[in-house]
Amino acid sequence: MKRLRKLWPFAREKAPTPGVQDLTALWQRTHGHLKPLEEHLPMPPDSLSTCSFCKQPGAIALSVQVGTDGRETLTDAVVHYCPACQRYFFDPAVQANREVASQPISKINARCWFAMPTFLNIEPTTCCNFRCWYCIGRTMPQVNMKLDDYRRIFDHFPALQTIALVGEGEPLLHPDFFLMADIARDRGVRVMLTSNGSRFSDDVIRNLCESAVTYLSVSIDSVDPATFADSRPPGNLDEIWRGVERLRSYRDRHGYRYPVIGLKGTLFAHTVDQLPAIIEEGWRRGMEVYEGFQPLNPMVTYLPCYPEDKKALLASVGDVAAKIAGYSRAAEGKLESISQFCARERIEFDKSGRPNGLRPGCDEQWIYALASGDITPCCMIKEPVSPRWNLFQHPLPEILADPLYESTRFNLFNGIFPPGCAGCYKVGCR
Ligand SMILES: C[S@@+](CC[C@H](N)C(=O)[O-])C[C@H]1O[C@@H](n2cnc3c(N)ncnc32)[C@H](O)[C@@H]1O
Ligand code: SF4
Ligand code: SF4
Repeated sequence: MKRLRKLWPFAREKAPTPGVQDLTALWQRTHGHLKPLEEHLPMPPDSLSTCSFCKQPGAIALSVQVGTDGRETLTDAVVHYCPACQRYFFDPAVQANREVASQPISKINARCWFAMPTFLNIEPTTCCNFRCWYCIGRTMPQVNMKLDDYRRIFDHFPALQTIALVGEGEPLLHPDFFLMADIARDRGVRVMLTSNGSRFSDDVIRNLCESAVTYLSVSIDSVDPATFADSRPPGNLDEIWRGVERLRSYRDRHGYRYPVIGLKGTLFAHTVDQLPAIIEEGWRRGMEVYEGFQPLNPMVTYLPCYPEDKKALLASVGDVAAKIAGYSRAAEGKLESISQFCARERIEFDKSGRPNGLRPGCDEQWIYALASGDITPCCMIKEPVSPRWNLFQHPLPEILADPLYESTRFNLFNGIFPPGCAGCYKVGCR
């Protein structure tokens, strides 16, 4: 009997539920490397079910497209994966499309995410003149991206349309920032950035306009100069507001369309009620876009960089997020939302990940890379995952086709999050 079970491990299983199709062989042939992670964060109980074959609990619903013989168009469907018996199965009872549900499945597409991003967020530098207490960049090696590496990005990313020069440093401190902006512009690629607003000299303002930088947001954590300096030392809020005013005035006086100026920042329990006042002041000083505010990032990987005396602020992250959502309406009619701005400028950037209809997932429609050129799954993951994902060394189409990269996207898209995502709001919102 032992020998029999080794040859045929399901020998003692009960018969499958009638009508359920075993798609394991088809899946292995077409998507063998796309497999739910063995180790992942807990999933919502309502997205797990009992395996129709081995009757064990814990079968994971996956969002896919399926087709039947003679049918060219694939239909959105659910396929389950059972970690206990490692089968992929199709249960007609849970399918929305009744016509497909009643026929034998002969085609599967499990690559339902955004095929070819056109938006790259890459960190030009990790150096900064500020010491914000919550910034993980202050604990990272301090480096500026090399120009040769930067130039290579454009050959390696043929579909690139927009480059956000943003990371855990101050972009305007990169000694060749405007050369980088001009290289992008000459390739027909738009440039966006986020700045701490401390470097708006007359030269920088002129260069921002002449280099046609499309969008620049400034981080403002408070309307009170002392509170601002407390989270963003040695930030001088009045000087930053005056810089924003001078940029807007220079741009408009000289007839430039860009940069459009946005507002963003980080809020805490003791500052979140200032959000309507921050919006009002931003608008008064010449800002045009509401990029959005975030609470303190509660990702487990960020916690070691927070000072002990600030960690109590983590307890209010959920309340702060809810208040930000409510107060954000104060921007309506004054500042354009970042999504309206991107739609108007035809910038394909969606932070939210694509919903797959089963549960919140995460497949960013953009690529995030560190100053080293290493692509990571998102801007909150600071550890390189694979040397094969380096944008300075490898063309993006090659990286996107890498089995580990595809498998990462497959899992994130399906809301199967690796342990490194613990604390992320996308995981927490379930
Ligand atoms: C990392 S900064 C880099 C760009 C620029 N130096 C700046 O400060 O705007 C980008 C944004 O992330 C926010 N941020 C950085 N670390 C954070 C954290 N641990 N939690 C929440 N927001 C954070 C900052 O407030 C800022 O708005
Ligand atoms: S200004 Fe930006 S990069 Fe600099 S320390 Fe603050 S958050 Fe970090
Ligand atoms: S779920 Fe993970 S990959 Fe997605 S945004 Fe959150 S931390 Fe990043």
